[in-house]
Amino acid sequence: MAFRWTNDLRPEDVTPEAVFMNRRQLIGGLAAGTILGSAGMAQAQEALEPNSWEDITTYCNFYEFGTGKDDPAKYASSLVTDPWSVTIDGLVDRPGDYSLGDILSQMTVEERLYRFRCVEAWSMVVPWNGFELADLLELAGVQSGAKYVAFETAYRPKEMPGTLFPVLDWPYVEGLRLDEAMHPLTIMATGLYGKPLPNQNGAPLRLVVPWKYGFKSIKSVVKITLTDTQPPTSWNKANPREYGFYSNVNPNVDHPRWSQASERAIGGGLFARRKPTLMYNGYEEEVAGLYEGMDLSKNF
Ligand code: MTE
Repeated sequence: MAFRWTNDLRPEDVTPEAVFMNRRQLIGGLAAGTILGSAGMAQAQEALEPNSWEDITTYCNFYEFGTGKDDPAKYASSLVTDPWSVTIDGLVDRPGDYSLGDILSQMTVEERLYRFRCVEAWSMVVPWNGFELADLLELAGVQSGAKYVAFETAYRPKEMPGTLFPVLDWPYVEGLRLDEAMHPLTIMATGLYGKPLPNQNGAPLRLVVPWKYGFKSIKSVVKITLTDTQPPTSWNKANPREYGFYSNVNPNVDHPRWSQASERAIGGGLFARRKPTLMYNGYEEEVAGLYEGMDLSKNF
């Protein structure tokens, strides 16, 4: 598919790889701050010693490998990512199991620099390697009745120790409206910083939707289903008051427990000043049309 979007991010905006990989420790501190609400947050962060942050459980994670901050990095290596295949079914002309090798031989993998914004009010700029989800869906042939795309993560208790605990309803699931899924900004990522995706970041294939909060980016995807009804999503099932289906970055709609109006760039140093969060994470021009006429405080 032709590249129909121009990026305003520059190489110097990219969050250093080491910071990206070690951010669990940094985020732990930020998440603790958010519980106090945005006003108390700056104060709380200044009061925290960097080494004490290590004791705090992070929020964004890969819960199939545990909820502790170090768990994914410690345990995700047990996930067997080769061979890998993705079942594409539902309202498609060519349902079936697509091997990742086959998929990749037909896709153009390119680097995309995207803003990555988490509900805990931190943000990064991440260089993903991936291909457009639309191209993958076109391989399977989307039928005219399809309105939504449902995603499912691998559920392998032997390889995923976190799934032995009922912290979420396994398997992890996510969903997009078809027009969101077909948008050229929506990619399936296979790499990070020019290298294959580390297991803890969702190897070998994870979704990235840059105008939505990070938790929408489902990892280690094994199944994609085209449907005519809105699919369930893991965080919405776990806590519908806090996590809606859309999960668009929106500074005007607060999370029930904290403001979403500003964020802290993790690459900018630990005590970098907060900056205002941009509507749709800075991708307003490209995606605002998808939500025209919708009440975003209800469809959050
Ligand atoms: N996907 C699966 N299968 N399991 C998870 O627990 N966590 C989500 C999302 N995708 C999660 C998942 C959350 S809460 C976030 S913030 C992002 O992954 C974090 O992705 P990263 O670790 O690559 O930044």
